Amino acid sequence: MRFRPLEKLINLQDGYRRSFRIDELALLLVKQDGEVYLFEARCPHREHPLDAASIRDGVLECPLHRYRFRLTDGALVQASEEPCRGLKTWPLIYEGNEVGLLLPD
Ligand code: FES
Repeated sequence: MRFRPLEKLINLQDGYRRSFRIDELALLLVKQDGEVYLFEARCPHREHPLDAASIRDGVLECPLHRYRFRLTDGALVQASEEPCRGLKTWPLIYEGNEVGLLLPD
């Protein structure tokens, strides 16, 4: 596994949102209410971009159909139509003054 830095810690202010494309991965790095999260950039329901999703108490709500996902494990916690798979999330790795993720070699 190799560390792939995404952002310097000094840039992670509350309300921070930035998307990243790494190989085939589309990721969204977010800081909200003092917590930092990394998850896939599109909703697993119908692929709506999640950069405008609301996040509260560790739960993300997609703005399109308001499906809700728990950010600790990505589990779907509320669906208004057919259920979908969970949201992919990645554990954050802190190294020096940067935050990132581990990728396979
Ligand atoms: S596309 Fe996100 S809830 Fe439907």
